[in-house]
Amino acid sequence: MTDSYIQNLFAERIGGKNYGKSTAIYKFEKIKRARRAAIAANPGGEIIDVGLGEPDEMAFPEVVAKLTDEARKPENRGYADNGDGVLKEAAARYMEKVCGVPGINPATEVIHSIGSKPALAMLPVALINPGDYALMTVPGYPVFGTHTKYYGGLVHNLPLTEANNFLPDLDSIPADVLKKAKVLVINYPNNPTGASATPEFFAKVVAFAKKNNIVVVHDAAYAALVFEGQPLSFLATPGAKEVGVELHSVSKGFNMTGWRCGFVIGNELLVKAYGDVKDNTDSGQFLAIQHATAYCFDHPEITEKIAAKYSRRMTGLVDTLKKAGFSANKPKGSFFLYTKAPKAVTLKDGKRVEFKNAEEVSQWLITEKLISTVPWDDTGSFLRLSVTFIAKNEADEQRVLGEISKRLSDVKFEF
Ligand SMILES: Cc1ncc(COP(=O)(O)O)c(C=O)c1O
Repeated sequence: MTDSYIQNLFAERIGGKNYGKSTAIYKFEKIKRARRAAIAANPGGEIIDVGLGEPDEMAFPEVVAKLTDEARKPENRGYADNGDGVLKEAAARYMEKVCGVPGINPATEVIHSIGSKPALAMLPVALINPGDYALMTVPGYPVFGTHTKYYGGLVHNLPLTEANNFLPDLDSIPADVLKKAKVLVINYPNNPTGASATPEFFAKVVAFAKKNNIVVVHDAAYAALVFEGQPLSFLATPGAKEVGVELHSVSKGFNMTGWRCGFVIGNELLVKAYGDVKDNTDSGQFLAIQHATAYCFDHPEITEKIAAKYSRRMTGLVDTLKKAGFSANKPKGSFFLYTKAPKAVTLKDGKRVEFKNAEEVSQWLITEKLISTVPWDDTGSFLRLSVTFIAKNEADEQRVLGEISKRLSDVKFEF
């Protein structure tokens, strides 16, 4: 690119004059590059991608049919703004029926989103002044924190550790941070750890929020993908609606990542503020997509079918990894398996390869075994594997798992 005065105009929040000049390569780019190199070095070889963070299948045919019908209706054609009543009412019904949260007022306590990601980007506009802290969990989905920093706010990281069942230790926050903390962002079932919350933890979060005047944002992107029992909503906790909002989405639970739809629900004032920011940011998701989304929330059996598939695959993946020496445990929900990364591997010729961190393990797995994973080195060294790998049917699923097993069978990992 030629030098341009534009280079000098970038805002400091994205790097100012140095925007775009960093040579650092970020994790997901490194994975992509290693994947490309592995494909080039092994023409015709099958890459097994357990690094994916999105569903492997399309939306269900009945949802596509609903979208088609709704797209044909002239009254759905225009700006949707903050939405009509269809998705709001379906969201309220869903919260009662599926999440055990009765009494949501669809007119005032829910507004659609163009997916949880934009909602996480907009909420800081409503809440963060320069110097305010957002409390974020690490490892985690960083969008709320990134935007907090854009507005001059600060992020305090709460580590998710195995010892704490990947739940943040709210008592660990230094007093000076707590004084300036405005928002706690949590996400369960969790990306990347696959951990689930408990009603006791959520009760603690409500008490913590009330005591310290903190807003809670619960990102429930994986909420309905549970392998046993009912989804656990933060809003089912007594007092939760006084302190926060919950974000739901059809991306993961209904195989609809590209459709971009969900909702923000809970505290009326927070929902109103989100709506005001949203009104100044986008003009709403296409009503046909909102109506197809409403159809989904009235058909939770779709998610149950998807969750049953992930549960079956998860059982197989856990067994496969255990056979290879990993101490993998099946999570209670999501599609992520988070497992400790090995420290070294001994190859069949007796050669031993040591790993400094999970990133090196991940690079080794893709290069040597054509298995793509995501490394996490924030709090300990872990690999994230997803059961959204490509497989045509159940028999093919077994073949893929068998293939992983075979590829790992001639080496010995050390932990
Ligand atoms: C924890 C978490 N929150 C939010 C999102 C984004 O969801 P959506 O597609 O609804 O924007 C993701 C997607 O990976 C996620 O993992």
